[in-house]
Amino acid sequence: MLTIKKIPTPGYHTVLEATDPEHNFHCFVAIHDCTLGPSLGGLRIYPYENKEDALKDALRLAKAMTYKSAICEDGLGGGKSVIISHKDYSEATKELHLQIFARVLDSLKGQYIAAEDIGTSPEDMEVLRKITPYVAALCSEHSSGDPSRFTAWGVLRGIHASAQHMWDSSDLRGKKIFIQGLGHVGAKLAQFLFWEGADLILTDTNPTRLHREAMLTGAKTVAPEDFASVDCDIFAPCAMGGVINEETIDKFQCKIIAGGANNQLANGELGNELKKRGILYAPDFIINSGGIINAAAEFNPGGYHPVESRERVNKIYDTLLEVFAMSESEGKATSVVADTLAEYKLKHEIGKRVHPIHFGVALQ
Ligand code: NAI
Repeated sequence: MLTIKKIPTPGYHTVLEATDPEHNFHCFVAIHDCTLGPSLGGLRIYPYENKEDALKDALRLAKAMTYKSAICEDGLGGGKSVIISHKDYSEATKELHLQIFARVLDSLKGQYIAAEDIGTSPEDMEVLRKITPYVAALCSEHSSGDPSRFTAWGVLRGIHASAQHMWDSSDLRGKKIFIQGLGHVGAKLAQFLFWEGADLILTDTNPTRLHREAMLTGAKTVAPEDFASVDCDIFAPCAMGGVINEETIDKFQCKIIAGGANNQLANGELGNELKKRGILYAPDFIINSGGIINAAAEFNPGGYHPVESRERVNKIYDTLLEVFAMSESEGKATSVVADTLAEYKLKHEIGKRVHPIHFGVALQ
């Protein structure tokens, strides 16, 4: 039987834990803030070691989504959900879990809208959509599809802005760029950078993926555990969060960290440490906002149009240049400047949703 219980969490709008022991189902939904609109964020399916780790991840990611949406003024709040998977997680179990999760999602009546994340795909969103309308980024017509091509493009524009700020030129020819993680975002970024003439270095814990992307781009490869000490100009983290931490910070040899992963800093102080070391950090929730910008476009009164999304994603370049300039003039870390900007927009309700979203009904 499905049980849904609220976990009172200071600073958060709503946090739910849902369990169905008979089907080995355990999930958390964290809604951080709905000041600017209903919350939107990915559904992550991941083999967390324990439920505390899963909840912590959902809370951190939901807060980052609030900041991300505030910065891009998309009229959405921040939320995230996680399902704990396990070893031998079959496609059949995943489908069953998605169907159970859809009921949890439906119970929130549109305060949280799910999209894909690590471990889920646009096809999985179709499974949810049969049971509840509170889903975005589907592969069907009128929906915005896989967000990762917009995320990857936004990361490329963010790398351009970072290079422009650091070297007075966004030309990436011959620049040594190291990508960690070659999934939906990282593999597309590798392709874009290949055509820009970058000298690529790649890593992934999945050897097949690593080999394929290295073959396609003529890149060098490194072992995943050596990621922090790779000799490169730009490090683009595109796998899990927390890669900038107390252990790795002294090993980095790059001049720029600019990649798609969420929550790259293990703690806020590390942003200051990067600045002290002369490493330019492109705040994660700005550089990787292409996906949310595209998904949010589904709710435009005039309907979704990819060209509009592309133009908005291109603005990541200008936003980052502004953040870098403010970081220099105010002597603050780029991560601190980005947080302050997002908090200002939240406080003054800049970009708040004007037209309510009409979700329609479940498709089944
Ligand atoms: P994905 O699951 O498609 O790809 C992740 C890749 O990283 C996989 O190839 C995996 O094998 C690899 N990986 C995992 N741990 C690793 C490690 N320790 N070292 C090296 N490689 C490792 O995920 P996706 O969608 O590409 O997302 C990547 C990151 O970007 C995540 O942090 C995600 O939250 C973030 N993000 C993704 C967006 C999207 O549109 N897909 C939007 C915004 C952020």
